[in-house]
Amino acid sequence: MKTTGGSSSAKRRAGEAAADRVSEGMVVGLGTGSTAAHAIRALGAAVDDGLDIVGVPTSFASRELAIEQGIPLADLDEVDRIDLAIDGADQIVLETGDCIKGGGAAHAREKLVAAAADELHLVVDPTKLADRLDHTVAVEILPAGRTGVERAVEALGGEPSLRRAANKDGPVVTDNGNLVVDCEFGVIDDPEALAASLSAIPGVVEHGLFVGRASTVYVGSDEGVSVTEYER
Ligand code: A5P
Repeated sequence: MKTTGGSSSAKRRAGEAAADRVSEGMVVGLGTGSTAAHAIRALGAAVDDGLDIVGVPTSFASRELAIEQGIPLADLDEVDRIDLAIDGADQIVLETGDCIKGGGAAHAREKLVAAAADELHLVVDPTKLADRLDHTVAVEILPAGRTGVERAVEALGGEPSLRRAANKDGPVVTDNGNLVVDCEFGVIDDPEALAASLSAIPGVVEHGLFVGRASTVYVGSDEGVSVTEYER
């Protein structure tokens, strides 16, 4: 797993608070990353205690953890809908709930699951909070489209950079067999417009801007959890 900042206890409090919102019979989206992993572990403990739920994983990693935790699983195309998805974020603006995801290269499936969910619950620690989004935007691309996507990102004012693997020569390859280009845009004045522009580039599979999707954000700290709800 990649490493991100923030204390483990802060992440655990956020993850466990979101897991507490899951009730009997729910279909639950299982996000990716170190914070969502705390929610998955809490759900695993609840399943052990008799809670009947079905999890829909967003990645190889979240599936692996959920299996280890004994959570019954289904693929996205096997469920009619998802009651609630729990996921992390790389950066979030609390005022709007808009965020950037994809630090673990799982954002394409994370967005599919979030889009199928009645509610998206985001779990973060305070290091993820920002007044405005300025984190690099992960863009999953078809390998054959790399050159064209990079040119199009530059035309939008971004600086693209192919994500390289840490323990392998060459690029990160996603769970879907694609590449990731991390795009630096500086401060993103209009996340909705940038999201639409990135989605329109041929070869882009999915980008990590999640705009207008969060239902609830849990910010864990070493003292407790603060919860922000959004009208959608
Ligand atoms: C995975 O691609 C991401 O969207 C993660 O949800 C995000 O990187 C948050 O991960 P951490 O909770 O480990 O910071």
